[in-house]
Amino acid sequence: TAIKVAVLVGSLRRDSFNRKLAKAVEKLAPEELSFEHIRIDNLPLYNQDFDGDYPPVCQQLKAQIKAANALLFVTPEYNRSIPGVLKNAIDIASRPYGSSAFANKPGAVIGISVGGTGTAMAQQHLRNILAYLDVPLMGQPEVFVKFSDGLIDDEGNVGVDSTKKFLQGFVDRYVEWVKRHVHA
Ligand code: FNR
Repeated sequence: TAIKVAVLVGSLRRDSFNRKLAKAVEKLAPEELSFEHIRIDNLPLYNQDFDGDYPPVCQQLKAQIKAANALLFVTPEYNRSIPGVLKNAIDIASRPYGSSAFANKPGAVIGISVGGTGTAMAQQHLRNILAYLDVPLMGQPEVFVKFSDGLIDDEGNVGVDSTKKFLQGFVDRYVEWVKRHVHA
């Protein structure tokens, strides 16, 4: 059976480099992994008043994540942290207390940035959040990609050989990591 990966991209931008990076990873992955992009642009701002009667769209987010075997976070860095839209989605999927969608799902965090630090700070913040949510996170290899023209096209084809090789190395380790935690 296929291993289902829920992909959460931290950018809503139409031409998001991070979405292209997510597609590149998907292309390099073996067929036994299936990737589902989880929508986060349709969610309300989290409010703890939801907890008594969770909005359907929030329940749907949780159901999609719960149905997955593994997680892949692909996020930009906004002001040295993760974008608010991604934190909002994580907050929603983590609640009500005791019914988090994330616990024990193996995951990885990667990102691409126009800045030279390649989302390193945002990833560290995200790792902190996901550690609290009991997500077994792959430590290595870290993927901090610096955007350049022609690096990844709209279909996720990687235009630079060394980057393609590097991403393939990440994917191979990710598959191992997921299999170690998933008994599908
Ligand atoms: C940015 N950007 C950015 N880049 C970075 O490397 N470190 C940072 O702290 C920030 N901060 C930041 C804040 C805000 C509000 C915006 C809009 C942008 C630039 C960022 O890397 C660039 O916009 C990427 O293109 C965002 O990723 P997507 O949308 O292409 O996936």
